[in-house]
Amino acid sequence: MDKYVIDGGKRLCGSVAVQSAKNSVLPLLAASILTEKRVVIRETPGISDVACMAQILRELGADVRFSGGNATIDSADACCHEIPSSLTRELRSSVFMLGSLLSRFGRALIAYPGGCDIGLRPIDLHLSALKRLGVSISERDGFIFCECAKLRGADISLDFPSVGATENILLAAAKAEGRTVLTGAAKEPEIVDLQNFLNAMGAKVAGAGTDVIEIEGVRELHGAAFRPMKDRIEAGTFLFAAAVCGGEVEVVGASPENLRLPLHKLRENGCKIHAKNDKIIIESRGRLKCNRRIETMPFPGFPTDLQAQATALNASCAGCALIVENLFETRFKYVPELQKMGADIEVKGRTAFVRGVGRLHGASVTAGDLRGGAALVIAALGAEGVSEVLDLSHIDRGYADLRTKLKKLGADIRRVHI
Ligand code: EPZ
Repeated sequence: MDKYVIDGGKRLCGSVAVQSAKNSVLPLLAASILTEKRVVIRETPGISDVACMAQILRELGADVRFSGGNATIDSADACCHEIPSSLTRELRSSVFMLGSLLSRFGRALIAYPGGCDIGLRPIDLHLSALKRLGVSISERDGFIFCECAKLRGADISLDFPSVGATENILLAAAKAEGRTVLTGAAKEPEIVDLQNFLNAMGAKVAGAGTDVIEIEGVRELHGAAFRPMKDRIEAGTFLFAAAVCGGEVEVVGASPENLRLPLHKLRENGCKIHAKNDKIIIESRGRLKCNRRIETMPFPGFPTDLQAQATALNASCAGCALIVENLFETRFKYVPELQKMGADIEVKGRTAFVRGVGRLHGASVTAGDLRGGAALVIAALGAEGVSEVLDLSHIDRGYADLRTKLKKLGADIRRVHI
């Protein structure tokens, strides 16, 4: 196991380029088996979730190679419709493979992905949508078996704008017979990226980014080479780190349009933000004040994937903040670790009451999930004294080269194998 050793209190200055978006590259990899032709996904991030998805594709019989930062997928020989339960457990978002497997093979067998550290994460919306497309589904001993000789387009409405369910529907409907109209779709930018990728393969998808998406099924899809969007959550993570540490940082690659609410909240804290095209410059002179209230909401609301990072910032500001997590049931499990650093936070259900203490102090803390782990790194960077952040496997799921990038900005951070 590895840990970070961080000597906090260093200002961050300089420029950092963000990686391709984890939450776009994963559904793009799932979409790659919708065609037997070659697919190239450029600049895939070196993160373990991508490696795990690549392993899933190999288990299905596809050939997946990484070179020069690109992923090349040849799935002509893919023939298996079953995903090993060990991989579904490791990467629960692999549930959107159901759509691809059903489209390619007419059947799919996966272990129930189950919950994780941030919540129950049911998949009822995925399954009811697939049934609308003609899929018969049986569940036994923790496995889900789906079967459908021919997917047929349908009108589908989601009671909640689930990102994964929206992606599953696009993957299943792309080659279904007839037209699918999805109402109540998730509007995240990663859905737009998936639409653009599918259309580059010859699909007919329109409306992504709004709550109504129309998919005209086509007979087959051809290969494509595609550059995914940049990771708005990694970008936001660096912005919150710069806010906590003080300094001036330019974050390159992510669109400010995809971070409107986080940028608004950072200005509320007292940071200066200049945003133009794909560059966001943040200036923080410390002595920041808490946000009165942050509520996580589906896009374009405040992203749940930046909730922990914003809480770590508010814990180090002056004043009080109310952080409400509306997407997941238990996404405050990182708070006890922040309390070890002197944070004054009380969690009641889905609400965290934060009393800013101005500055945290170093401590030994353990990451329990991806974004909670990122929040602990942010808190340690701004804290007085030395911290260590244990169990980096969670952070490695979504952040490639985090230490290198932070060190380049002036952080005193070492990765130590223990
Ligand atoms: C995606 O997860 C992201 N993961 C998550 O990012 C992100 O937090 C989430 O969307 C919300 O933006 C990927 O894209 C790989 P949802 P997903 O379906 O698709 C409930 C990260 O840190 N729900 O939009 O699983 C669910 O319980 C990860 O990068 C149902 O009730 O999210 C949750 O409360 C974490 N039934 C809410 O919807 C369903 O069938 C949002 O879930 C599906 C979801």
